[in-house]
Amino acid sequence: MPTAEELHVTPVAAPVTPLPERIPEPCIVIIFGASGDLTKRKLLPALYHLDQAGLLPEKISVVGVARRPLQDSFAGDMKEGTIAGGGVEESDPKLAPFIDKIQYHAMNFDDAAGYNALNKLLTDIDKKSGTCGNRLFYLATAPEYFSDIINSLGQHGMAKPVPCADGSNKNPWVRTIIEKPFGHDLASAKALNDEVNKVFDEDQIFRIDHYLGKETVQNILVFRFANGIFENVWNRNYIDHVEITAAESIGIEGRGPFYETAGALRDVVQNHVMELLSFVAMEPPISFEAAAVRAEKVKVWKAITPIHPADTVRGQYGPGTVDGKPVVGYRQEDRVHPRSHTETYAALRLEIENWRWAGVPFFIRAGKRLAKRVTEISIHFKQPPLLLFKDHEGKGAESIKSNLISMRIQPDEGITLRFGAKVPGPGMNISPVNMDFSYAEAFGKSSANGYERLLLDAMLGDGTLFAHRDGVEATWALMTPILEAWAKDPIKDFPNYAAGTWGPTTADALLESENRKWRKL
Ligand code: BG6
Repeated sequence: MPTAEELHVTPVAAPVTPLPERIPEPCIVIIFGASGDLTKRKLLPALYHLDQAGLLPEKISVVGVARRPLQDSFAGDMKEGTIAGGGVEESDPKLAPFIDKIQYHAMNFDDAAGYNALNKLLTDIDKKSGTCGNRLFYLATAPEYFSDIINSLGQHGMAKPVPCADGSNKNPWVRTIIEKPFGHDLASAKALNDEVNKVFDEDQIFRIDHYLGKETVQNILVFRFANGIFENVWNRNYIDHVEITAAESIGIEGRGPFYETAGALRDVVQNHVMELLSFVAMEPPISFEAAAVRAEKVKVWKAITPIHPADTVRGQYGPGTVDGKPVVGYRQEDRVHPRSHTETYAALRLEIENWRWAGVPFFIRAGKRLAKRVTEISIHFKQPPLLLFKDHEGKGAESIKSNLISMRIQPDEGITLRFGAKVPGPGMNISPVNMDFSYAEAFGKSSANGYERLLLDAMLGDGTLFAHRDGVEATWALMTPILEAWAKDPIKDFPNYAAGTWGPTTADALLESENRKWRKL
């Protein structure tokens, strides 16, 4: 067998540089729950990357808000996080001025006096730093605090823009970014949406899904809609089935109490995987305006037929080996119930009943402690009539693999197109070969973590890459019946896969009944 030919891709022109109008107006970013991991590991490094790239306004302040009295250590901690999480050298001359822009405010999230003091602090910063009343409130707390914070911001007059005293900004803005999980099921998501919408208008709300910040995820739209050759075959006439895999080799990373109430379906499928699916399946929007993109995504989710519990598989990892090291099972993890029924793996088969996709099954799998970390979308094309390439005994055609486009979302970001090629020699033997595009080879390695783009867009007021109320409710409407069916019928044989494997073998049956197989990743 010949080795696969690799036709590497190189950029043929310099990337487009950001236009000056993409730099946001002066503002204050206020992070609630700033003592948590997210701020240190992701948000601060992302803000720093934006600063380094010259994409932040010069007048910007960051205020961390949390309950603990961390005034003395916060800036130092954030510096450490930015160095560790952002691939930054301590000697970087831009680091100290960036850290100087960070302040800390300790308060309980239900404490009226705390909000008054915070409001005063923000007004003082406006005066000193010229941030002009523009505020971005980032809710990075545990979800049980969302209501308190949102209602208090409303009660203290902080949810609506107030022009700054010197009249320098006629159109100040106030926006809020809300982290996932956005609800626990359809009813709680609706209740939370109602609560948030009482205080903030929908165009002030930026529900974040960090997957949409990933370059490879945004590139799905570029791949489909900026190239003339793929979209024509992107439908039921040519596509046999689609697989979406979001596999992680890590376990629950000390998040026992959170994960026990979440599970794989809520944690990853309802949001990240459904976002991937909508990008793969949506119709071309009439523009890249937020409303146009969101409308097309919601149409996809609403066209998914109810997912029958028989088309779902749950799993939970037991002890096993990951990266050559023994690891405990889910039930042995810290603060996890020893007979927990929480799923750490979920697989589904679903169909989108519309003109583009009717009859094309989509197979989804997501899980923790799987054999490796890989998120990939595989588009499997139908076989052409293969009679030509059979030998006189009718053999040979079965070794011909169908065309495949595999979009590697992470970690080895890129896209591969598989096709058949003639093996040199006197016969007509066919071998699958790949055309491969690697992000790192074409554009160099990036240290961006996905939050850069989303923070920047929120500061610019561009909601295209954020979830809208309708979308959140549409995806919960799909997942809630599955969650209810699972709750009524707890699995008896958990754990049903060993850590470090590809999940429960029952997931293979989802595809095997139709003569298909999960792609080996
Ligand atoms: C988070 C989930 O939203 O996404 C985590 O809560 C999961 O459980 C993470 O590990 C995966 O994100 P990424 O970017 O590492 O694929």
